[in-house]
Amino acid sequence: MPRTVSATRYVTPLREGGSLPAIVEGDDLGLYVVKFRGAGQGPLALVAELISGEIGRALGLKVPEIVLMEVDAALGVNEPDPEIRDLLKASVGLNLALDYLPGSLMFDPAARDVAAPEIASMAVWFDAFVTNVDRTARNPNLLWWHKTLYFIDHGATLYFHHNWQNLEQSALSRFPAIRDHVLLHWADLIEKADELSRARLCEKLFTDVMAQLPDAWLLPEPGALVPDDKRRAYVTYLSSRLSAASSFVEEALRARASLI
Ligand SMILES: Nc1ncnc2c1ncn2[C@@H]1O[C@H](COP(=O)(O)OP(=O)(O)OP(=O)(O)O)[C@@H](O)[C@H]1O
Ligand SMILES: [Mg+2]
Repeated sequence: MPRTVSATRYVTPLREGGSLPAIVEGDDLGLYVVKFRGAGQGPLALVAELISGEIGRALGLKVPEIVLMEVDAALGVNEPDPEIRDLLKASVGLNLALDYLPGSLMFDPAARDVAAPEIASMAVWFDAFVTNVDRTARNPNLLWWHKTLYFIDHGATLYFHHNWQNLEQSALSRFPAIRDHVLLHWADLIEKADELSRARLCEKLFTDVMAQLPDAWLLPEPGALVPDDKRRAYVTYLSSRLSAASSFVEEALRARASLI
């Protein structure tokens, strides 16, 4: 399990976030960006955030530390905004929290931000692997912090988990949406990233990541009734996707060739 902290103070909502994430203080005095289990997107968004975040980290990309945050019923009672009160009430228990990066700025190609080819190429491989459509120029979800690029907002990745019946088919997806990736332009080392990724990811790593998911986020699905069945299904999916990497790599190379 990841480190668990308890929420001590709701600091402020991050209004730009669709799921109403917030800055919350933990009992270790740290500030965190919390993704709430009770938000409209439901616990699958937290599952995706944790799995993809840890896969990105294993690939060598910078991802803020992910911890679990325990919210108790007292946290929201004095919040004046009823929407926030309801969200906190629906989120009592374990939520996902990311280390807050104070003073970070969003990557902005229009402001002539550029990315290193190694990082851009690994990012393209990673986002194709976890099927992330949220890395576009309009919504890059990349933060500059201390001159380093941090990868955030993986809640909409792994979209196969909204439709478990098609697990095998989804694992083979070429992911054409990669054409809109904000870093594709700089990604001239995709084959190298592919080689590194295959060396860094494996079934054992996927199994270790699944062990970090709280049971409470793993609700039953047809064919995966208890949390451990679901953990195994994620490992199966990710292992198949890794075996099929050549097809999304080919697609990314093709998309880049038509871009430049
Ligand atoms: N670890 C962090 N440190 C500092 N700021 C952060 C961090 N995580 C998120 N933010 C800020 O909060 C905003 C919302 O976070 P995030 O994109 O993860 O949430 P979301 O609800 O999935 O958002 P959206 O649906 O709008 O993309 C980010 O755009 C960023 O400005
Ligand atoms: Mg976002």
